Amino acid sequence: MRDREESCVRHLWRSYAVYNKKRVGEFGMKTIGVLTSGGDAPGMNAAIRAVVRAGLKQGMKVIGIRRGYSGLIHGDMIEMNARSVSDIIQRGGTMLYTARCDEFRYEEGLQKAKKVCQDVGIEGIVTIGGDGSFRGAADLSARGIPCVGVPGTIDNDITSTEYTIGYDTAMNTAVEMVDKLRDTAQSHDRCSVVEVMGRRAGHIALNTGIACGATFILVPEVPFSIDDIAQKMKQSQSTGKQHFIIVVAEGVGNVSEIAKEIEEKTGIEARASILGHVQRGGTPTVRDRVVASEMGYYAVELLSKGIGNRVVCMKDSKIVDYDIQEALGMKKSIDKRLYQIALDISF
Ligand code: F6P
Repeated sequence: MRDREESCVRHLWRSYAVYNKKRVGEFGMKTIGVLTSGGDAPGMNAAIRAVVRAGLKQGMKVIGIRRGYSGLIHGDMIEMNARSVSDIIQRGGTMLYTARCDEFRYEEGLQKAKKVCQDVGIEGIVTIGGDGSFRGAADLSARGIPCVGVPGTIDNDITSTEYTIGYDTAMNTAVEMVDKLRDTAQSHDRCSVVEVMGRRAGHIALNTGIACGATFILVPEVPFSIDDIAQKMKQSQSTGKQHFIIVVAEGVGNVSEIAKEIEEKTGIEARASILGHVQRGGTPTVRDRVVASEMGYYAVELLSKGIGNRVVCMKDSKIVDYDIQEALGMKKSIDKRLYQIALDISF
């Protein structure tokens, strides 16, 4: 009888251990951190929510690290529970704040961050940000704290992924703004030359341009000449077109100078506008919320298997992951066919 009881207890204990192992991740990661780094992007909050809830679901403790790697180095963090991420899915910005951190580029900063992780018990980190943030994630992974990157930037300029969180919202904001500029350009028979963000990439400009029916779209990836633009405008003017929209990616150059040159070469009054940081804020679109939720969840799945030094990406509309160094070495350009279509149908 006693033997049977003992075996029963042993069995229960084993089942509990198996259950517990599953709950805290196959490789026993008990505590993970989450941070946002670099420029903020709409949908980052949805990603934070997914990471926190997925981690809690796995039985992990989840620490929210404030102000990116800077907060990590300085121990600026808070334990998250399910309610910490209530009511944020619809909000732009990031509830964890964000920063760009020079200190983290150097060994001393990385060692400080590692020590904080060891002291607090953080065994893995989800980093939501751009490729600069992924470099930091790779460096910290190499020092024994596995990190998983989730792409969050309005620019969609992370080469390993088709999509970055915030891109759709930013484009929708830009389109709304350019539609407003069109009203005034139309009323005055003017040319509106509008600069959109994108850092060194033309993804936002291309899609905003095609969606707004821009006469010309200037992106860093495609050479252009102001003479060609002027010629196209004059040609359209001769068929009755009286107002024009030119969308310029910020990576192309000075939008005021471009507007001045266009005015000089066409005789059409031109005005320059810079949309700026308005593109970074606002309620995230459905697409950004959904992708952020999927990517955040996937990142926790990787950490729960003890897998770090990876970035979560979208390929052929599916969520996948790559080694960070491999991802950083990948190439991506704008959709040249879309660019051609945009030019062919706007005259
Ligand atoms: O990466 C996002 C982005 O908004 C870029 O489009 C832009 O070039 C840059 O950040 C602006 O950075 P900051 O927030 O430092 O002005």
